[in-house]
Amino acid sequence: MEYDLFNPPPQPVSEGTAISANPMPTPSVAEDAAQKETASEAESEAERIASLRSELHRHNYNYYVRNAPEISDQAFDELMNELQTLEQRHPELFDPNSPTQRVGSDLGSGGFPTVPHERPMLSLGNTYNREDVKAFYERVREGLGGQSFDICCELKFDGLSISLIYEQRQLVRAVTRGDGTRGDDVTPNVRTIRTIPLVLPAGVAAPSRFEIRGEVLLPWQRFEALNSEREARGEVLFANPRNAASGTLKSKDARLVAQRGLDAYLYYVLADKEPSDSHYENLLAARMWGFQVSDATRLTHSLEEIYDFIDYWDTARRSLPVATDGVVLKVDSLKQQEQLGMTAKSPRWAIAYKFQAERARTRLNSVSFQVGRTGAVTPVANMEPVLLAGTTVRRASLHNADIISSLDLYEGDYVYVEKAGEIIPQIVGVDYESRPLLMGRKVDFVKTCPECGSTLVRYEGEAAHYCPNSTACPPQLRGRVEHFISRDAMNIDSLGPETIDDYFARGLIRDAADLYQIRVEDISGNDGKRSKSAQKIVAAIEASKQVPFDRVLYALGIRFVGRVAASQIANSLRTLERVRRATFEELQAIDGIGSKIAQSIIDFFADERATTLVDRLVEAGLQTALPEVEALGTQLEGKTIVISGTFVHHSREQYKELIVRHGGKNSGSISKKTSFVLAGDNMGPAKLEKAQNLGVPLMSEDEFLTLIGQ
Ligand code: IVH
Repeated sequence: MEYDLFNPPPQPVSEGTAISANPMPTPSVAEDAAQKETASEAESEAERIASLRSELHRHNYNYYVRNAPEISDQAFDELMNELQTLEQRHPELFDPNSPTQRVGSDLGSGGFPTVPHERPMLSLGNTYNREDVKAFYERVREGLGGQSFDICCELKFDGLSISLIYEQRQLVRAVTRGDGTRGDDVTPNVRTIRTIPLVLPAGVAAPSRFEIRGEVLLPWQRFEALNSEREARGEVLFANPRNAASGTLKSKDARLVAQRGLDAYLYYVLADKEPSDSHYENLLAARMWGFQVSDATRLTHSLEEIYDFIDYWDTARRSLPVATDGVVLKVDSLKQQEQLGMTAKSPRWAIAYKFQAERARTRLNSVSFQVGRTGAVTPVANMEPVLLAGTTVRRASLHNADIISSLDLYEGDYVYVEKAGEIIPQIVGVDYESRPLLMGRKVDFVKTCPECGSTLVRYEGEAAHYCPNSTACPPQLRGRVEHFISRDAMNIDSLGPETIDDYFARGLIRDAADLYQIRVEDISGNDGKRSKSAQKIVAAIEASKQVPFDRVLYALGIRFVGRVAASQIANSLRTLERVRRATFEELQAIDGIGSKIAQSIIDFFADERATTLVDRLVEAGLQTALPEVEALGTQLEGKTIVISGTFVHHSREQYKELIVRHGGKNSGSISKKTSFVLAGDNMGPAKLEKAQNLGVPLMSEDEFLTLIGQ
């Protein structure tokens, strides 16, 4: 019988530690209840916190690792809200591994401590063809003196490696590879990665202390979404998912990390005593403990089988959700690994086979520098057209000044172009041999803005150069107005980028506020056709005055303030005046707003030129506040109400609103202070029990509607 990860071998099951594909044990409700009756409220809340935590860990695992959720997203959110509320009430019960920590916090911002690795993190020797693989196989055979051996074949994930330490089933530390001996302790960020278990379920047969290594990745979908957001904001794009994952994992804002949606695959278990002598078996065990181990893992017994694995994944990898750049081959037996030992840099028992990236050679004609909406300057290579992975490529990104200088480029050089992460073509090397004797001009990064002549600046920790002249540099001005009118912002769809360029060229506008001064006669010619479209444009600009405040806030184009952030801020602070006056702390306290966004808003409103523009927009009549919630009655004044279950007449959101609009308060969890529970169908058993224990009355949907006179 051959096993692979689709078809795992039967697990030894000892009494009382049932290990199934779903290793999270369900807590006994009856046991819970019996204890609760005798406990004081604080104690019962502590228990509730513990049971919510283990329940949520189990649901996370079912959802993210098994892809088999057992409850609806809404039910999950409810449990999470309840836990958050209880944890806020009980700071003494703080647990860094609570499921609530997945959303990230700003705690621990300000640099990562560097810590030594318990065991060095080695790199792997690379091979690029079958002969090299064969040579590796022969070396192993020789090194083992004719013993038989198996090779575990795995995918080589193209992210960044991470070492996780678990003690007593708890994640205690996560460290990047660093220089192999020391790495950055990025534990708070890693806690936000949902496929990494924070606590292993009780009953798993994991060593009491172990290390597990793997790769942190940003899935393609997330990467593409992130880059299109960045493009829309005029920010520099990430070249590939690896850079994006690395930038994300090293971010000081764990909330941002949580939003980006990193993923992780684990591929190496290390302990004083591993569960098995077989690396492959250890991976299976790790999967049973709740880790995400790739299905593309196979135990092979011959060179032929290894070639088959390589050939299969060379194409099949294209449909994987994450980036891979090769295959890793590992001698399966740990004893044999030890026997083979290592060279100074890498083990003799493992090797990486790298897939061939599609690459082409062509001539570099010139390099131009593009200035984006935020002033970021991107160098672009203009090349002789060349066919690459099915498309003709003429231009490639050179990313930044560091990359240009490391390539030592001259115009007229022959360069190698690859599709980075199979998306954006980039120059990866120079064919120095064929550099013409009469060399072209050396390519240097510009010192001044090619559009307005300002001296470029480079912010600390950033690779990009920026033109600081945000108030007068033409592409930045145009870009800001283009952002202002875009669909998610003011949605003035009868205007497009070309029209905006035209208005700039004719001196009709210099900023967004000027749009509101445009009269039909300014933009209509003498012929009737243009006058019609002019009327349409002026009407659309006028109509944009009704666009809600959250989108106005987004339209301002404050750096790092995307649509979601803008609407979080608007919902929380309600008016422009309050956003303007908000302190750093107030901004940061808003759900989803980290230090970077908070600081950017502070900086924006500290700039007089920005506030002058905002004042002129206000004067033009744009929305500066979200509508007040209008009161419908006072029947619920002084009442705290918990909603539970499903309803017939209105949605839960509508009930929340009805409670507030009748003077009541909506709360996520039942306590002594709860006035009553608005109970729909299928109310959760935990809530029901709690209401009964505390003597909190239940009210049906119909009774509630009668109470508020509906
Ligand atoms: S095992 C001693 N397995 O490749 C062996 N590494 O150059 C340690 N990588 O730094 C590594 N997928 O970041 C291993 N299935 C896999 C891998 C993998 C990707 C990365 C890892 C490591 C680099 C080795």
